Amino acid sequence: MPSILLLGATGCVGSHLVIALKKEYPTFPVTAYLRNKSIEKYLYETAGVQKIVYGTFEETEKLAALAKDHDIVINVGSSFDPVLTRAILAGLNQRPAGVKSTLIHMSGAGNFVDTESNTGIANPNCKVWNDSNVKDMELINSGMLNGAPDEVILNAGKEGKIGTYILFPTALYGRSTGPVKSPGVIQSLMIRQAKELGYVPYIGDGTVRFNTMHVLDIIPPLLRMIDLSLQEETPQGSVYERCYIIGANLNRWIELSAKFAEVFHARGLIPSPIPKSIKREDVDDGGELAMLMSRDQLFLSERAEKTLGYKPTQKPLVEDLQTALEYFDL
Ligand SMILES: NC(=O)c1ccc[n+]([C@@H]2O[C@H](COP(=O)([O-])OP(=O)(O)OC[C@H]3O[C@@H](n4cnc5c(N)ncnc54)[C@H](OP(=O)(O)O)[C@@H]3O)[C@@H](O)[C@H]2O)c1
Repeated sequence: MPSILLLGATGCVGSHLVIALKKEYPTFPVTAYLRNKSIEKYLYETAGVQKIVYGTFEETEKLAALAKDHDIVINVGSSFDPVLTRAILAGLNQRPAGVKSTLIHMSGAGNFVDTESNTGIANPNCKVWNDSNVKDMELINSGMLNGAPDEVILNAGKEGKIGTYILFPTALYGRSTGPVKSPGVIQSLMIRQAKELGYVPYIGDGTVRFNTMHVLDIIPPLLRMIDLSLQEETPQGSVYERCYIIGANLNRWIELSAKFAEVFHARGLIPSPIPKSIKREDVDDGGELAMLMSRDQLFLSERAEKTLGYKPTQKPLVEDLQTALEYFDL
């Protein structure tokens, strides 16, 4: 049975994925690589992992050696770190010739924000990215939000030894599962900003459009990517034909900020349920949130729909956020 090395098992996405792996591929030996030593019993007994290896993403030699011993590496732990990605690829590259090796990488649709306008005001001429358009996927580069590892993976995939599959999910909301509660990257950024500012911001008039999706909708496409990697004839097509952009609901930021403000206010985190307009440079999160809040983000998931059968089924953020955040200590 193919062995799987999973990075990110305590995260918002990884916590669901590790359970889904057990349900979908009960005979596949899964190794969880993580630094949190508090959930060993849960991982062995509930998530059914076969092996646990403790370490950080910075321990590149350890990671390369582990990757070398696994058929499929799934990284849902970091979309930003090209050093980690290089270590995984170095390990997979050391596997014997003729042995199938796969990397399934979770990047982010933050790559596909508008490059022309960053005012927070909708740009009627904003580019619409399409994952089924190879020319669009060829534009992925290290200057994009999650692009540095993506570029490394695409280049490695072109060499032909490793089957590379990249998922570009948009911003996620929803609960994690298991003993570690992780709100994930975007919900965490929104919580932190509201605490720092004392209100929920939007930029300009907040008419820029942003796509969000529920964390549970990311699991089926990840499983279908594993299925693709298991087919006899792999990898399928060029590296660009193994890139999938997924999202679910398109909103204007003003609507999203209003919902976060309403929920945060009801939880006593901020004094007012009304979001406030702010200058882009005053959004203080190291750049990610400012970028996402100030630029349109438009894309189509044609390849994900056709090849992975992608179809979101969960409630939209504006209906689900209160339930999602009830789960977390703010
Ligand atoms: N959430 C989103 O909206 C979204 C959307 C698109 C892409 N992404 C990307 O997908 C990745 C995972 O997202 P997420 O929301 O699931 O994040 P998350 O909840 O913060 O999970 C991150 C996971 O990676 C582990 N991790 C982080 N740094 C580590 C390190 N140095 N060494 C060992 N383990 C480490 C965490 O372990 P600990 O429990 O030990 O911290 C956790 O298991 C992120 O890189 C994010 O940028 C997220």
